[in-house]
Amino acid sequence: MKIAVINGSPKGELSVTMQSVAFIQKHFPQHSLQIINISYDIKKIESNPETLEQIIGDIKTSDGVIWATPVYYALVPSQLKRFIELIIENRLEYVFEGKYVSLLLTSIHFYDTLAANYLHAISDDFKMRYTGEFLAGMEDLMNEQERTNLLNYAEHYFQCITNKIATSITYAPVSYTVEPFTAAKQNIPVIAAGNKRIVVLTDNDDPDTNLGKMVTVFQSALPEQVELVNINSYDIKGGCLGCIHCSFDNTCVYKDGFSDLYDNVLLTADAVVIAGSIKDRYLSAKIKTVFDRAFFKGHQAFLLGKLAGFIISGPLRQNHDLRLALEMWSQSHTNNYVGIVTDEYDSSATVTDLLQRFAYDLSEMLNKNIKKPTTFLAISAHTVLRDFVYGERAIFKMDNRVYKEQGLYDFPQKNLKKRITNRALSMLFSIPSIKKQAQNDMKHNIIKPLQKVLE
Ligand SMILES: Cc1cc2nc3c(=O)[nH]c(=O)nc-3n(C[C@H](O)[C@H](O)[C@H](O)COP(=O)(O)O)c2cc1C
Repeated sequence: MKIAVINGSPKGELSVTMQSVAFIQKHFPQHSLQIINISYDIKKIESNPETLEQIIGDIKTSDGVIWATPVYYALVPSQLKRFIELIIENRLEYVFEGKYVSLLLTSIHFYDTLAANYLHAISDDFKMRYTGEFLAGMEDLMNEQERTNLLNYAEHYFQCITNKIATSITYAPVSYTVEPFTAAKQNIPVIAAGNKRIVVLTDNDDPDTNLGKMVTVFQSALPEQVELVNINSYDIKGGCLGCIHCSFDNTCVYKDGFSDLYDNVLLTADAVVIAGSIKDRYLSAKIKTVFDRAFFKGHQAFLLGKLAGFIISGPLRQNHDLRLALEMWSQSHTNNYVGIVTDEYDSSATVTDLLQRFAYDLSEMLNKNIKKPTTFLAISAHTVLRDFVYGERAIFKMDNRVYKEQGLYDFPQKNLKKRITNRALSMLFSIPSIKKQAQNDMKHNIIKPLQKVLE
């Protein structure tokens, strides 16, 4: 059978993910895995209708489709995101309909599940027959057990197609009609955010859209302080190429407008509000390009010390993974998060109130230096990235330096006091009477140090 492999790696066939595809091909020579380099060729696909037609032809004649891609910032690379947008813009979803589909992702397991959920949902939207996914670590192919797992996965996929197995839909289609938003009367007082710099970063060119009007309300709630910055006015030449040239000195191979946007706008802001519309099940590929290009900073927080928030137009309530991705992005890239306002509420008056409330909260947080507690989203992100950077510190040299400088190598085993306490307690608890007493006093002992604060 012929399988169309949609390669999401901007590195084309020199990709980690494609090595797994090659391994499958080697063990199943009776099937033909046709690799289509979507991310690598995205410029050609966008500008040349014949290239898109050819790809569509290849998918049409295939017996199945594998989305094979690296995970970039808890999603797919911006280039593959753009391809999905092109399919929808050109109403080509029907080409995918009824095809047996699978996912083959490689990553360092940092929110790989969110990327998989996105592609799963898109596959359901395209009415494909979803058979499962294989979320590999980027070095898994070197492990014998993982190679066996990969071949078992591939065999299962081929069998699904041969046996025409029944499949189910996991993600309900998004059902949404945009209600036009009109700014209502302002109920919350305008408050100043001192001399703080607030930037709204958007890809929206039309001030008369819901998003444009929402941004205007937000701006008027914080007069003179909000700078509107349009990504489209910066000459950003393309998405991250995944080349990792930046790992030694945080310098990107692109010489384009992104560095201007980062150095002169984002880095000097106190708060960054990202304003975007939902396209398919995420924000636009344009905004995703900005997220991906942040990789020149490796695994460091891109907007450390800033306040982040989002103004979103579109059905966020029906895309919880997007909300989670945005919250996770805020927590791991800034150190504080205001929230999200969308236009999907019942009335323009409510949306206006929410935007003003959002501006008010943002101002209060800046003025009073209010910090929200970090949650599992930031803590788990830190732990995964810390361990990865430490393991790859020869390559990610700048990360290593910054992690040392900022004390981010906070491995628990380095905490001497805790080690000594644990050792001593372990010895004590090996005495049955002390262990019993400790069990009886557990609740009291846990809150004892906290009660000292109350005294
Ligand atoms: C811009 C960029 C963003 C990345 N984001 C993530 C991520 O969010 N989660 C993750 O687990 N790995 C992430 N990675 C690591 C890649 O997913 C991983 O290296 C992958 O195996 C590369 O595959 P490829 O060689 O096929 O492109 C990122 C890499 C790059 C370059």
